[in-house]
Amino acid sequence: MVADPNAFSPLRFCVAPMLEWTDRHCRFFHRLLSKRARLYTEMVAAPALFYGDAKRLLDYDAFEHPVALQIGGSDIRQLVHATKLAQQWGYDEINLNCGCPSERVQNGSFGACLMKTPVLVADCIRAMRNAARIPVTVKHRIGVDDTTDYAFVRDFVGALAAAGCDTFIVHARSAILAGLSPKENRTIPPLRYETARQLQHDFPDCRFILNGGLTEWTAIHEALHHKSSSLCGVMVGRWAYHDPYMLAQVDRRLFDTVLPSPSRREVLENYIGYVRTMLERGVALRTMVRHILGLYHGQPRGRLFRRYLSDANNLKRNSAEVIIDALNVVERN
Ligand SMILES: Cc1cc2nc3c(=O)[nH]c(=O)nc-3n(C[C@H](O)[C@H](O)[C@H](O)COP(=O)(O)O)c2cc1C
Repeated sequence: MVADPNAFSPLRFCVAPMLEWTDRHCRFFHRLLSKRARLYTEMVAAPALFYGDAKRLLDYDAFEHPVALQIGGSDIRQLVHATKLAQQWGYDEINLNCGCPSERVQNGSFGACLMKTPVLVADCIRAMRNAARIPVTVKHRIGVDDTTDYAFVRDFVGALAAAGCDTFIVHARSAILAGLSPKENRTIPPLRYETARQLQHDFPDCRFILNGGLTEWTAIHEALHHKSSSLCGVMVGRWAYHDPYMLAQVDRRLFDTVLPSPSRREVLENYIGYVRTMLERGVALRTMVRHILGLYHGQPRGRLFRRYLSDANNLKRNSAEVIIDALNVVERN
């Protein structure tokens, strides 16, 4: 059998950075489902890190590794500061957001609008790479507004590759900066996976991770084993969040793991231990429970589980027993 050169790529499967979703509790829960997936933080704004409470923004549990910090910004001094902090905090990677289309982000001059200023982004990447040893990666789109020709994204990637960036996460849609909400920007601009494949073909020394609209194993398999140009990895966002038990299949399907996947019950029992510790530290049950609502997605009584854990009166108890009760609701014989 021919060895698969991508078999051990650390970015073979990534869970996307998602604001207000992939917080530390979510990542801890996801890590109980997959040991190998690379997890990304929500985007942290570089100015917030520069002027604000770094500990609150960066703290996480060592169990979450491998975990990448996603940063938003374009001020070199702030990005260098963020990179040093990311290394100090033990993050496995720092990822620069060049794909987020929200207006708030555009005003701060970061996100997808940065694709229009590749020279500036290349300077940022160079400075970040010089500031620390951890890998510096970029997440970007394939076009901005009306500029959707391949040369645009090719030149953007080319400028960053020349600055030393060798890993690109490609959300394979354009970003429409005026007129579409961030949510619409994740559904309306058409997906063009072939652009990511073309980039991989044109920059063979770089790694391209495909993101956007992956909701089936067959699509993931196709991305990783395409006949003309295979990609080094995939990043999944909404599917993993809404149906997190898909993550329990990642290690066996995409890595060399032979251990059986954990059952939903095992995952929950371990998460309950974590929840108890966090409750003692004053974290509200509600903020930890919201990430697990989809664990029984598509299962008998899965809706009862979700409903039980969404009920304000149950959440008011602010006790880990609420999750045990939900488990009994969904798994009663
Ligand atoms: C609620 C939500 C928040 C998001 N926040 C971020 C973010 O902070 N940084 C980022 O680069 N992308 C963000 N995204 C985009 C995702 O990372 C991903 O690119 C997008 O959802 C497409 O992947 P999917 O189709 O697998 O969900 C967010 C997406 C969602 C649904």
